[in-house]
Amino acid sequence: MLPIYGRITKLGYKFIYLVYMKRLLLATGGGDCPGLNAVIRAIVHRASQEKDWEILGSIQAYNGILWEPSEIIVLDLQKVSGIHFQGGTIIETTNKGGPFHWPVKQKDGSWIEVDRSDEMIRKIQYMGIDGVISIGGDGSQRISQNLFEKGLNIIGVPKTIDNDLSSTDSTFGFQTAVQIATESVDKLVTTAASHNRVFVMEVMGRDAGWITLNAAIAGGADVALIPEFDYDIDIVKEALEKRFHHDRGFAVVVISEGAKKKGGKVSTQDIDEVGYHNPKLGGSASRLINELKEAGFKHDLRKTVLGHLQRGGVPTAYDRVLSAQFGVKAFEMALEGDYGKMVSYRHPNFISVPLIDAIAEPNLVTKDNQLVITANGLGISLGI
Ligand code: F6P
Repeated sequence: MLPIYGRITKLGYKFIYLVYMKRLLLATGGGDCPGLNAVIRAIVHRASQEKDWEILGSIQAYNGILWEPSEIIVLDLQKVSGIHFQGGTIIETTNKGGPFHWPVKQKDGSWIEVDRSDEMIRKIQYMGIDGVISIGGDGSQRISQNLFEKGLNIIGVPKTIDNDLSSTDSTFGFQTAVQIATESVDKLVTTAASHNRVFVMEVMGRDAGWITLNAAIAGGADVALIPEFDYDIDIVKEALEKRFHHDRGFAVVVISEGAKKKGGKVSTQDIDEVGYHNPKLGGSASRLINELKEAGFKHDLRKTVLGHLQRGGVPTAYDRVLSAQFGVKAFEMALEGDYGKMVSYRHPNFISVPLIDAIAEPNLVTKDNQLVITANGLGISLGI
């Protein structure tokens, strides 16, 4: 590699690199998730054991590269010191726009999207960056695969509280979200019992019911409604009445944001953020309460929407360890030039799987899953 002028604009580098430095660029994309910082720290620590590797971070996913001037920071041991237990990401993230859908404002105030992926890859290569590690969920890894097909050296790390990536036993952030949801069920149980109420708690997860199912089992909820199984409102009503009258005089329902009744529609919210493409889910708890009332359910009903609380704060020890393992493995893949792959946890090993396979199928709950069998065994109604 030719010596290049530093273009790390945020730090104002002005000197010439005279030694051969290999550079890895980290980007965190999509919704934030507990454990992102622990992955970043692990990559930097592992890289520090090799000669001549420099780790850079692009601010707000690929925006840092695409902005003029660029916003790229050096990630060294000092910068990542003590970040493993911090939520969020020190290099920020976004789930809008991106290299293939870059929003550009027109003179009349409207927005169009342009594909800046080729330009971005050229910029990355011009900066002397040898590879990219993209820490993100299914959307981010789809972008990774598209960039890989265009010639970028890229490695994925599976991040998401939704746990909806199928090529890995688990994604980091998921356990923390389950812990937060479970503690919330515990809290709702005491207030529901004191007031003889039914609480409906709405949790995230998009099209996957993993957070709901785990929190319902761990928290001892009475009903768990997930996106994979459309519920029958009469069955839900009957289950709640039984729990209310015969068993304990109150009840707790955990419902996924993406759950819906048979023949019904998923609840979404209007969103006018430029470059935001996903449907914004939300409102399933309110909708269920209305459906129960319409079906003739007479007891007091209250709702709690956990929302982004599930993504904030300190990662659990499990997620910190998983993140550290993903980070170390991702760097070792870069060392070996094992690009176009995603790190995957297949108990007890950490392996690499082609990105194309990682994004092929989502990881969704099926009726024969052990968690469903356990929920049935515990008498938790799934509304089916
Ligand atoms: O995919 C992660 C996730 O937290 C989903 O569970 C949720 O539907 C979505 O992101 C929310 O996204 P936003 O941060 O844009 O509100």
